[in-house]
Order: sequence, then C-alpha cells, then structure tokens
Amino acid sequence: MPELRSRLAGVPVLNLFFEPSTRTSTSFLLAEQRVGADALVLPPGESSLGKGETIADTVLTLAAMGVRILVTRHQASGFPARLAEAFSGHVINAGDGQHAHPTQALLDLLTLRREFGRIADLHVGIVGDILHSRVARSNIVGLRMLGARVTLIGPPTLLPETMAGDGVAVERRLDAVLPHLDALMLLRVQRERIAGASLPSLDDYARGYRLDAHRLALLAPHAIVMHPGPYNRGVELTEALFPSPAWRYAHQVRYGVPVRMAVLEALIHGIPGEVVQ
Ligand code: CP
Repeated sequence: MPELRSRLAGVPVLNLFFEPSTRTSTSFLLAEQRVGADALVLPPGESSLGKGETIADTVLTLAAMGVRILVTRHQASGFPARLAEAFSGHVINAGDGQHAHPTQALLDLLTLRREFGRIADLHVGIVGDILHSRVARSNIVGLRMLGARVTLIGPPTLLPETMAGDGVAVERRLDAVLPHLDALMLLRVQRERIAGASLPSLDDYARGYRLDAHRLALLAPHAIVMHPGPYNRGVELTEALFPSPAWRYAHQVRYGVPVRMAVLEALIHGIPGEVVQ
C-alpha cells in the first residue's frame, strides 16, 4: 500500500466549478494534493466552453489527456449525472442545484460520528430553507441510512409537508423541538434560489427560526449545532452562537479534507473490504 501522500500519484483530477465555492473547492484541492494527485482547475469562464465547445466535447478532450476524475459543481440539478454519461472516468458531485451535495453530507456524518460515537438513534434537526437545500437532501439520505431520526423544521413555504417520510418528521415550531435534539443543523437561507413569493420576510424568518441566545439555551446540554456554510449573520443565526461550546462549524470544515481524500481514494483504489464484482 503506497503511503498517503502518493496514493493517487500521477492521477489527474480536474475541478470544474460552475458555481461559487470556498469550502468545497478548497478542500477538494487540498485533498487532491494530499493524496498526490495531479490537481487541475478549469474555471469554466476561462475555458473553450466560451467559444461554443459543448460540455460533452470538453470532457472527451479532458479524458483524452488522461483526466480520470472530474469534480464538478453546477447550478442545474442532475448536471453531474449528465456529465458522467459523456465522461469515461469518475465524476464527483460537489453540489448540483437543489438536488445533492454528497461530500458535504459525508463530512457532516463524520462530525456527528466523532461527537457521539454513532449515528444510529441520534435525533437530528435540520432547520430553515429545506426546499432549496441540496445539503438537507443529502443529509436526510445519509442520516436515515445510518439509523438517525430526522426532524425538519421550517415554514410551509420553505418546507412542504410532502418532505415528511419514514423516520423524517416535519415540524413548524423550532422552540418545541430544540430541547429534544442531539444535533441541530442550520441551513443558509438561499436568497439566490428563492422566488420572491416563497420567502417570508427576513424579520418573520428570524422570529420563527433564527438561532439566537434564547433558543440556544433551549438546547440540551450535550447537543451540538452545525452549519454547512456559508452562513448569513443575523439571518439564520446570531453572534451569540460563535462562543458557544455547542458550535461545530470549524470541525465540519476541517473534516471536509479527509472525507474528500477518502472519496478520491475509494474511486481509484476501492473501499477496503469491498468485493469488486
Ligand atoms: N458548504 C459548502 O458547500 O460551501 P461552499 O459553497 O463554500 O463550497
């Protein structure tokens, strides 16, 4: 087994982000460098896509150069799946529209696992703009697979009743749920994805759902608070959260690098113990 920093030596990995990113793009680059991959960045606005080349022809070209993994983020749900149809290598979804953000969910699950030693039977609340959140969707899948109980909390315009399901409850009153949670995941109010009519006024949102000092005090002493970032100060949280021992944002960000290293490793070398058919 080669040592960590050379596990993906000579493997070209290309980062193709059509949407802004700080955490995901930087941690993927760090992860690629730490496993020794040839880490490449192609900003779409500086590529030949601007000259009319199709995305399918772009990925054919990249494959011909030996690129084996594409890491992509796009505003359209389903974009990475479509890219994978045209590309002969691996495609990693770094966030697509309102659909999924799988590596964010993995680092969130690692944060919970490190905190509690397990995921099964934890009660995790996810509060805010669930409807537009790819982070919420991926976390719901991961949390349920690993046996956690999930309560989604938000106003009807940002959280339709239809999102309730097996092991997933919908609740409108944050204050009533807070004392019963092991972990609370805050979400960013995604003003760029919300049609004007579906967003309550920010004052109304804050009154019902912002985590302030009063609500922080309603959490159980062992409970933790998470946020995928970027956060809107004064919208979904207040400054009272930052000195709190419950706040785990920095842990989440830190775990993003090893989680993405593991994903890269698994794609190229497989998962230890996995039977490859
Ligand atoms: N959490 C997350 O996806 O952050 P970025 O948009 O900065 O990558």
